[in-house]
Amino acid sequence: MSDKYVLAIDQGTTSSRAIIFDHKGTIVATGQKEHEQIFPRAGWVEHNPKEIWDNVRAVVADALAKVSLNHNDIAAVGITNQRETTVVWDKNTGEPVYNAIVWQDTRTGKIVEELGGEIGQDRYKERVGLPLATYFCGPKVKWILDNVEGARAKADSGDLIMGTMDTWVLWNMTGGSDGGIHVTDVTNASRTMLMDLKTLDWDPEIAADMTIPMSMLPEIKSSAEVYGVGRQQGMLPDVPIAGILGDQQAATFGQACFESGMAKNTYGTGNFMLMNTGEEIVPSKNGLLTTVCYKIGDKPAIYALEGSIAVTGSLVQWLRDNLQMFDSAPEVEKLAATVEDNGGAYFVPAFSGLFAPYWRADARGALVGLTRYVNRGHIARAVLEATAYQTREVLEAMEADSGVKLAELKVDGGMTANDTLMQFQADELNVAVVRPVVAETTALGAAYAAGIAVGYWEGEQDVIDNWAESKRWVPEMDRGEADRLFRNWKKAVTRTFDWMD
Ligand code: G3P
Repeated sequence: MSDKYVLAIDQGTTSSRAIIFDHKGTIVATGQKEHEQIFPRAGWVEHNPKEIWDNVRAVVADALAKVSLNHNDIAAVGITNQRETTVVWDKNTGEPVYNAIVWQDTRTGKIVEELGGEIGQDRYKERVGLPLATYFCGPKVKWILDNVEGARAKADSGDLIMGTMDTWVLWNMTGGSDGGIHVTDVTNASRTMLMDLKTLDWDPEIAADMTIPMSMLPEIKSSAEVYGVGRQQGMLPDVPIAGILGDQQAATFGQACFESGMAKNTYGTGNFMLMNTGEEIVPSKNGLLTTVCYKIGDKPAIYALEGSIAVTGSLVQWLRDNLQMFDSAPEVEKLAATVEDNGGAYFVPAFSGLFAPYWRADARGALVGLTRYVNRGHIARAVLEATAYQTREVLEAMEADSGVKLAELKVDGGMTANDTLMQFQADELNVAVVRPVVAETTALGAAYAAGIAVGYWEGEQDVIDNWAESKRWVPEMDRGEADRLFRNWKKAVTRTFDWMD
């Protein structure tokens, strides 16, 4: 079987990708397609689920065609996905009743406040590991049922089902309205606010509080087992679909963070730092999430602490698209290099409120410290620095919650190509920052999970053996200066509060 390949589908926030890996974990072909970001109102973010399903099929076809492979060459398929983004659809027709509501969307602010009631945002935290926030799925489903005409009646009669993007893709790949499998994995389920972290099952009481019929929810499975096979009419007939992990958990897996205390940080649309805490469910006292890291077949679930930052890479996209400061995202580094420092400017990108460690739905973005001295270069620099400061806040929370002092931080994702940022990150954290050779660790993690499930790879040791370091940044900046900048950042953060009327 090792002469075959494993295909990973990465359904992300800005694009869908298909990546084909060989037995060494090396990329042999990639297909990628962006989808529309729909912003109907301030704070609302949607995706068209049909467009995404079309794109998934297109990128799989593209990747296979590039290396002249077909379904006979594929040992297994793994799916990884932007987490929390929620679709509700009619199981008889396959038609979504509304666009997918994206994880960044803040429209459920009021619902979340009402659900918290007198207890506030920690109402379900002990059971689900998450604070009540607009980020998670449950309130998004409630919003759709409350606001889309006819949806509640159809949900009550059992015609509507829900899912995160893994579930939407799997259901369509395995037959759609003609026998599609309605399943999710434990990592994605742990982001709904509806799954009990201990039992790894839906919590009917929370579903009732959110007025979500249990019949809408997918079956929860492990992250590595055969869920089903590709439909006969599709491109991958009979190929086992055997791995599902939320993208951040997949990256943790692909980075070989298998021991308690090992952590990775992914620089994507947002930043997500996960630390493996083994079989222990570690509650956070410092604004982090407790989540499922992965579960391989029948083995016990492995948990993680997570620091989620909503806006990092997407701030660079915002400068490109909304302010038209440059034509392509990597140019931000050149612009930032035209100046020595931030010129006193700090940019707090609280576009979706603030996630970890603050969880403030009322926060909105702010650019502070401005004088006439500040130019485009300083703003570009402040934008890059914002990612590094937010990461430092999360790392400090992680060390406080876990009692583990990180010796180095494994990183991956698009922005790790930015040397200025990675150096500044090492300076701010005061630990080495290390990037692996295969920076596509998200897709790789999903491929490994699927490959392990079908026996293509033996287990985690293969992942460890295939991991190799490509680049390392070590702290260089004077500590006093790094800390002074961080203190100013903290002050800037307080200027973003209380903007939700
Ligand atoms: O929780 C959201 C996260 O999974 C999104 O990741 O890489 O698609 O921006 P990404």
